[in-house]
Amino acid sequence: MNDARESSPAAERNKQPILEVLERVLPPQGLVLEIGSGTGQHVAHFAQALPALHFQPSEMDRARHRSIEAWTAAERLTNVRAPLAIDLLAQPWPITAADAILCINVIHISPWETTLGLMAGAAALLPAGGPLVTYGPYLRNGSHTSPSNEAFDASLRSRNPCWGVRDIDAVAEVAGRVGLQLDELIAMPANNFTLVWRKIRPT
Ligand SMILES: C[S@@+](CC[C@H](N)C(=O)[O-])C[C@H]1O[C@@H](n2cnc3c(N)ncnc32)[C@H](O)[C@@H]1O
Repeated sequence: MNDARESSPAAERNKQPILEVLERVLPPQGLVLEIGSGTGQHVAHFAQALPALHFQPSEMDRARHRSIEAWTAAERLTNVRAPLAIDLLAQPWPITAADAILCINVIHISPWETTLGLMAGAAALLPAGGPLVTYGPYLRNGSHTSPSNEAFDASLRSRNPCWGVRDIDAVAEVAGRVGLQLDELIAMPANNFTLVWRKIRPT
């Protein structure tokens, strides 16, 4: 047991449903960048299940890098790189290429500007057709998809007025400006969605 491993109950619950989408939408090989890796549970789970891919975790909170590294070490993974510190509010990112990008439960727990940064950075990094996979709660056509999401949104905004559940159309508008198109919308457990964005034109 490596004591530096932190554990998030939400990540423990959603890692397998997300993996089942990733198995289908990620390229068969190449480098997958994760933005906001948190504890590192997700990247460890995905890397173990998808050994032909290499994973680059990142977390702007450097205090969490030990946990990410501990998960990688505990699972004896050889396809996970050391974490980077990527802040979506700062460009350029300290990485020059990635074949796919993951961003789980970040868009609503950060200011709207991080979504702008995510889309701009992803568009700069991804090859044509490359996926950006985002996961979390979203509004659809301006409405919450459940009372629990509405309550969650209110609690987020009370913690930080700049946070909040975003509307898929608003995110799509920002993505479209930089050449990313919503390719798939997958309903997930607990009123979440996985969104698969693909780069359709060079930036
Ligand atoms: C609720 S945690 C999710 C962590 C992990 N992806 C998960 O699902 O367990 C929110 C994440 O958003 C990230 N985040 C917030 N603002 C950010 C920013 N400006 N740039 C990059 N990441 C940011 C945090 O560092 C944190 O990893």
